[in-house]
Amino acid sequence: MFYQIYPRSFADSDGDGIGDLRGIRDKLGYLELLGVDALWICPVMRSPMADGGYDVADPRDIDPLFGGMAAMVELIAEAHDRGLKVTMDLVPNHTSDQHPWFAAALAAAPGSRERERYIFRDGRGPDGATPPNNWPSIFGGPAWTRVIEPDGRPGQWYLHIFAPEQPDLNWANPEIAADFEQTLRFWLDRGVDGFRLDVAHGMAKPDGLPDMERVETKMLVHDDDDPRFNNPAVHEIHRRIRKVLDEYPDAVSIGEVWVDDNTRFGEYVRPDELHLAFNFRLAETPFDADAVRAAIDNSLAAVAPVGAVPTWTLSNHDIAREVTRYGGGPVGVARARAMMMVELALPGAVFIYNGAELGLPNVDDLPEAALRDPVWERSGHTERGRDGCRVPIPWEGAAPPFGFSTGESWLPMPPEWAASTVEAQLEALGSTLSLYRMAIELRGVRPEFAGPRVEWYGSPAGCLAFRRPGGLVCVLNASPVPIALPPGDVLLASAPSENGQLAANAAAWLV
Ligand code: NOJ
Repeated sequence: MFYQIYPRSFADSDGDGIGDLRGIRDKLGYLELLGVDALWICPVMRSPMADGGYDVADPRDIDPLFGGMAAMVELIAEAHDRGLKVTMDLVPNHTSDQHPWFAAALAAAPGSRERERYIFRDGRGPDGATPPNNWPSIFGGPAWTRVIEPDGRPGQWYLHIFAPEQPDLNWANPEIAADFEQTLRFWLDRGVDGFRLDVAHGMAKPDGLPDMERVETKMLVHDDDDPRFNNPAVHEIHRRIRKVLDEYPDAVSIGEVWVDDNTRFGEYVRPDELHLAFNFRLAETPFDADAVRAAIDNSLAAVAPVGAVPTWTLSNHDIAREVTRYGGGPVGVARARAMMMVELALPGAVFIYNGAELGLPNVDDLPEAALRDPVWERSGHTERGRDGCRVPIPWEGAAPPFGFSTGESWLPMPPEWAASTVEAQLEALGSTLSLYRMAIELRGVRPEFAGPRVEWYGSPAGCLAFRRPGGLVCVLNASPVPIALPPGDVLLASAPSENGQLAANAAAWLV
C-alpha cells in the first residue's frame, strides 16, 4: 500500500507556506496510524519549480525549499524506524532548463557534445523559423522553442514535450543513461527503497522525429500511436535501469505509463523491466459498475501475461480528485468511499493520493491569480490545470491554513474544509479517514484477501460483485436504489448496511 505525498502540499515545517520534508517527518506518526507501507514522494530534488519540481536542475541534491539533503537523510532514517519505505520520484525524460547541462548546451555550438545531451534541431523553412516538426507540448503550444545562438542570432530549436523549462534529454546519447544510473545509485546508497519514474513511456524518441498525423490538442492526454511516447527503444532503457535496481535486492520501480493497449502496457512490466507500472484505468472510469468492471478486467489482463503485479489508483497530483469526478458533494464523497473499498479489495499494489483519505474534493474555484500550474499560462488561460487537486492538506483547527503552515498556504484552502481536517476525522467513527484506516488494516491482516484472482459474481443491474480466492466478497452498489447483500458477514461497509441491504453509492466487504 503506497501513499503518494505531494510535498508542497503535505505539511510545512518552516512557515513559508510550502510543504517540506521536515513537515513530512513530523507527520510520520499519522502515516503509521493510517497503516500504509510505503511513501511515494513527488520530486524534491533541486528545481526552479517551473512544474512543481518536475523540472530538475540537480537530480542528486534536495532543494533547499524542501529542507535540503539533511532533511531527506533524516526523513529516510525516521521513516525506516517506523517501518515505512520511501520511494522517490525521478524524472528521466527531461531536466530543468536551469540544469548546468542545458546552460552548457545553449553556450555551445550546434552539433557540439553539449547539445547532443538534448534534442536540438534546425528549424524548417528558408530561415529555419518553423519548428522542426509539428509536435505540440503536452502543456499546450509547440513542443519546440527556438534558441538565440551565442552570436546573438536566432538559431536551433530544442524539444520539450512538457514546458519550455523542461528540455527533453537525448536518451540515444549513452552519457544520459550513464548519468541516470549514477542518480539511481546515489539515492539507493542513501537508503531510498525505490523510485517512481516520471513519464516512463517517454525518453526514447523515434528516428527522424516524424510529424504527428493527428495533432492532439487536448491538454495532458495522448493516444497510444503518438510518436512522442511509447517508442520501442524505451524498453532497452528500462532494462538498463532494472539491472541497476537488481543490485539492490529490495528496490522497487514504478513507472508512469500512459499506454492504453494491454499488450503494449504489459511490455513495461516484463521481468527485466519495471517492477510496477501505474494503470490509470480506474482513475479514468466514471462511477458506473460496468465501466468499473471493465477497467478491473483490463488492468488484470494487461499484467497477467507477463506475471506482473497489478496496480490501482483513483487519483494523483495530475487528476481531479475522485470526490469531484464522481459528482461532488455528499454523493461524490459516498461514491469515493465506495470506490476505495473496491480498490482495496483488489489484488495488487494500491496507491492512495494524499487527501483522498480525508474525502477532499477538487478545488475548482481557486482564484486565477493563485494558479501555479504551467498549463494555465501555456493554454493562454483557457485551461486551469491541476492546482485544484494540489491544495494543501487540512490538519487541524477551524480556519485555513488548518495547521498546514504557520504562514499563508501556497494555494488558498477552502474554509469549509474545517469539517474535513485530520483532527476532525481521526476519532469520528463514521469519517472517511476512519473508513480508510479500517479498510487498510483489514486488507493487511485478514486471510480472506489472499489470492491473485478476481472471480465475478452475478449482481443486480448497476452493481458489481467479486470474490477473492481467500473468501472476501466485495459488492459495489452504483445503482440508484438499495440492493440486497449476498449471504455472509459484513466485514466493512462504506455506508451503514441494515437488514441485509446495501445503500446506493456504497460498497461492502463480506466474508
Ligand atoms: C508527469 C507528472 O506526474 C506531472 O506532474 C508532470 O507535469 C509531467 N510528468 C512532466 O514531468
